[in-house]
Amino acid sequence: MNTRILAWTQDAVGASRIREAAGIIRQGGLVAFPTETVYGLGADGLNPQAVEEIFRCKGRPQDNPLILHVDSLDMARDLTTDFPASARVLADRFWPGPLTLVLPRAETVPAQVSAGLPTVAVRMPAHPAARELITAVGGPVAAPSANLSGRPSPTSAVHCYRDLNGKIPLILDGGECIVGLESTVLSLTGDIPRLLRPGSVTLEQLEEALGRVLVDPAVLEQPEEGAKVSSPGMKYKHYAPNARVILVKGDEGAFYRYVNEHAGKGVFVLAFDEDMQKLPQPIVSLGSRNRPEEWAAALFAALRELDERGAEIVYVPSPPREGVGLAVYNRLIRAAAFNEVVVEQ
Ligand code: TXA
Ligand code: MG
Repeated sequence: MNTRILAWTQDAVGASRIREAAGIIRQGGLVAFPTETVYGLGADGLNPQAVEEIFRCKGRPQDNPLILHVDSLDMARDLTTDFPASARVLADRFWPGPLTLVLPRAETVPAQVSAGLPTVAVRMPAHPAARELITAVGGPVAAPSANLSGRPSPTSAVHCYRDLNGKIPLILDGGECIVGLESTVLSLTGDIPRLLRPGSVTLEQLEEALGRVLVDPAVLEQPEEGAKVSSPGMKYKHYAPNARVILVKGDEGAFYRYVNEHAGKGVFVLAFDEDMQKLPQPIVSLGSRNRPEEWAAALFAALRELDERGAEIVYVPSPPREGVGLAVYNRLIRAAAFNEVVVEQ
């Protein structure tokens, strides 16, 4: 299959490309499209065969459910059997935007979307191309990140092309994703809201809106083999670069000392602009040390760059587990297969 990349712009040309993409999706096909978080691999969320095609195309484990993307509150409500007051509060505050809500699944939603779970994940994206696409399809668009399973999520059309060239007919190119990490996933199916995946809508913001929020253990720790987890996506070694990634917990001085003691061929550092001249090893930067939003936006492209440059071992300072830092930590600790060393100050 020949994979075309078409630029999306907010004009008549962009609109005709959205119609073309929507046509493919309505006929059961797949299209990669931009969102503010990462690129999605979209299919008709109410068509079981199209949804199954997503799993085949990505090589995604069958038990990892998908998010349905909506363009209105009514569309979101129709996909659930209960849209509680807490969901309304969050939708008012954070939609459209990088927040996914897990709610009881309506019967109209194919079981394939939710990998058989009685719940469904719903999100209203902020990127105008994504919302125009959903509107043109006329129904919910099921979309995981548009990468091959196990690869870093794509934050540009080129990343999608590298992973899915020859497998899908069309990639809509809406530029680089502003957020750069996948949405925050929050379950509202229990008595107390539960954070399943941290993102740029932070735990602190959710607590401010709702009061108490539980953090699922899988956010910070490796689920045990065979354990039943609330968020199936969290049990897989995600975002894995070819290099061995090692998180180093300690202050700046301790980090420099540790890296110097472990110097060698193929050793790279993933750190900040402020570190650029301070270490002899090649450094890939996540942006400024003081701006977690920059780390989030840069992370997945940085992991791909490290692979392209042939990094064998990558040392990364452990980000603080607060605000957007929690989301960056959650992705990094998985890229590192939970390999973190604590260095004395
Ligand atoms: O930002 C995003 O969320 C992007 C863009 C494309 O919207 N999508 C994305 O999808 O990251 P994906 O499939 O890569 O991640 C979906 C996550 C997985 O961790 C999955 O386990 C979880 O959401 N999830 C989906 N449905 C669920 C459900 N019913 N219960 C619990 N977790 C669910
Ligand atoms: Mg993904």
